[in-house]
Amino acid sequence: MIPTFAPFPATRFRRMRRTAALRDLMQEHRLSVADLIWPVFIRDGAEVEEPIASMPGVARLSLDRLVRKAEAAHRLGIPAICLFPYTDQSLRTETCDEAWNPDNLTNRAIRLLKSEFPDLAVMTDVALDPYNANGHDGLVRDGVILNDESVEALVRMALAQAESGADILGPSDMMDGRIGAMRKALESAGHTDVTILSYAAKYASAFYGPFRDAVGAGARLVGDKKTYQMNPGNTDEALRLVARDLAEGADMVMVKPGMPYLDICRRVKDAFGAPTYAYQVSGEYAMIMAAARNGWIDEGKAMAESLLCFKRAGCDGILTYFAPSMAQMLQG
Ligand code: PBG
Repeated sequence: MIPTFAPFPATRFRRMRRTAALRDLMQEHRLSVADLIWPVFIRDGAEVEEPIASMPGVARLSLDRLVRKAEAAHRLGIPAICLFPYTDQSLRTETCDEAWNPDNLTNRAIRLLKSEFPDLAVMTDVALDPYNANGHDGLVRDGVILNDESVEALVRMALAQAESGADILGPSDMMDGRIGAMRKALESAGHTDVTILSYAAKYASAFYGPFRDAVGAGARLVGDKKTYQMNPGNTDEALRLVARDLAEGADMVMVKPGMPYLDICRRVKDAFGAPTYAYQVSGEYAMIMAAARNGWIDEGKAMAESLLCFKRAGCDGILTYFAPSMAQMLQG
């Protein structure tokens, strides 16, 4: 489309920006509470809220506290919560068996949330890093991240989460072939309605640092994740990954991180028209909070603008640690 307009002064763009009412009338994109997925960190214990230093305002919650915060989020209209466990250090092994333990922290949290709030969607993370002795998302042998063996482990993990009642599985591991393997296993186990939100275009990013502190995987991580996560210099590869994951049975796809990758969001939405999500990751949250706490930017305005931009870039929803505060702002 080639925009046309009558030359000045017939066209004065400032006419339509003169009042709030006129600005509202011509606003193209809007954020609503229904666009938000809230990622939460959980831990064992009772009545614990353990602050995460690199993510001001975010804490690891024991399950009793999780229920109370989930209730508040649900009441604000947030449609989904995504669980990330801080696994006890003693349960982190090279075989990652805790990942598919039906009674692990995540699976207990899923059952609890679904019994308390049946209409709140519960999303999970499918990756081995919170259970792995070496902090990687897949199984490691002799320093190599194994693909096919990892996929088998991830399928077991996904099935345990589906069995516990998860609505949305979020494979964030970036192994090849995992979506197809999970979909097949879910179908044969009768979990025909469990949805998969594939972390399809996930980049090997420096912006995950605070998250790795939060799940306690950062200090353990040996090397980096560049053999499975994407190179930040690539964009066509993201489209091929999305095409592949949709063909293997993903219902929704994600681009991650968020704000530095809005071009990818737009390309993915335009190319596939599939439900597209972005993850405003821990480092993005930390940057906004750090600047705001220094008095350098306005926290609320920067939060709202950063989230609206995802809608403009074509996203249907956003995973964001700001979900409760954004929801509160949107609800007045
Ligand atoms: C790992 C996983 C990561 C995040 C979500 N799932 C980190 C990583 O890949 O190292 C990052 C989220 C964030 O930074 O907020 N399975």
